[in-house]
Amino acid sequence: MTTLVTGGAGYIGAHVVRLLQERGEKVVVVDDLSTGRPERIGDAVLVECDVAGPGAVEAMRVAMVEHDVRAVVHFAARKQVGESVEKPAWYYQQNVGGLTNVIAAMESADVDRLVFSSSAATYGMPSVSSVEEKLHAEPINPYGETKLIGEWLGRAAGRAWGLRFVALRYFNVAGAGWPELGDPAILNLVPMVLDRLERSERPKIFGDDYPTPDGTCIRDYIHVLDLAEAHLASLDYLDLDEREHDVFNVGTGTGASVREVIEQIGRASGLDVTADVEPRRAGDPPQLVASPERIRLELGWVAKQGLEEIIDSAWEAWQAGPRAIDVGER
Ligand code: UFG
Repeated sequence: MTTLVTGGAGYIGAHVVRLLQERGEKVVVVDDLSTGRPERIGDAVLVECDVAGPGAVEAMRVAMVEHDVRAVVHFAARKQVGESVEKPAWYYQQNVGGLTNVIAAMESADVDRLVFSSSAATYGMPSVSSVEEKLHAEPINPYGETKLIGEWLGRAAGRAWGLRFVALRYFNVAGAGWPELGDPAILNLVPMVLDRLERSERPKIFGDDYPTPDGTCIRDYIHVLDLAEAHLASLDYLDLDEREHDVFNVGTGTGASVREVIEQIGRASGLDVTADVEPRRAGDPPQLVASPERIRLELGWVAKQGLEEIIDSAWEAWQAGPRAIDVGER
């Protein structure tokens, strides 16, 4: 049995590839290596291809037929909110276009199981303290819009030709399941703090006047290995003929503030993490925490690791290197 993983050479994708391999499954990775690295995928077959590029549908169809692919996990996409605001058409082309190509290839190769990387960005600025999937999704940037459209597209293909589809709405992913599979991008809070500390600079806090206990934004940090396991649980779920839901939050249900995360990095590293408070960053919701009830009830998945394990593993991976490739702004 073979699973095709688009973006399998990336941060989250490589964790799923490794878990599938540990489970004894064959893996084909489709990745353009723009941010992914081939050494992350072990003995998986690599098809070097941009899922949103010309010829992608045929290249993926051939790979699916040749390798007897039974299911697809689709990660390959762009994920920078700010960039999506600046280049909306490109984001739609990359993220919606990429998924469209994946689904078209699946239909022509007769592959009917798909797990799709969605995002808590689909919720926008929720006013509730813990978000449930049934909440009306109202993304506030093109990145979140492309993920919500992706969910609609997967569902529509289900109605049209029987695609078995699950979308996972990731909350704030961090940590590493293996030291060599750490987050290679300096785009999110944990790597951004580690990067500044490494350069002997103070971490930055974007706003400490939010309506939260310590004034800094609260997020639901999820260990990348827990998240990867949710994909395997989703693949198993797609084998069932009766499935009640196709959208699941992947979070812990527990929030941590920016200050708490930075303090935890201080404890793990032993470094002085005194931070500078900067103005608020545009578009940050004060609090975004998952209700993880649906995925627990339907898939039997729960997060096993908390903030301490997330930060310890991120710190270990950061020290182990290879040093992060800088694909984002500092
Ligand atoms: N932050 C700082 N200092 C930094 C970096 C970040 O204070 O140096 C703050 C941000 O302002 C925010 C929090 O840390 O309050 C988390 O920021 P991230 O950029 O790590 O993550 P976001 O919650 O903004 O976004 C993440 C993903 C998105 C996804 C979103 C969904 O990066 O792709 O979660 O919730 F859409």
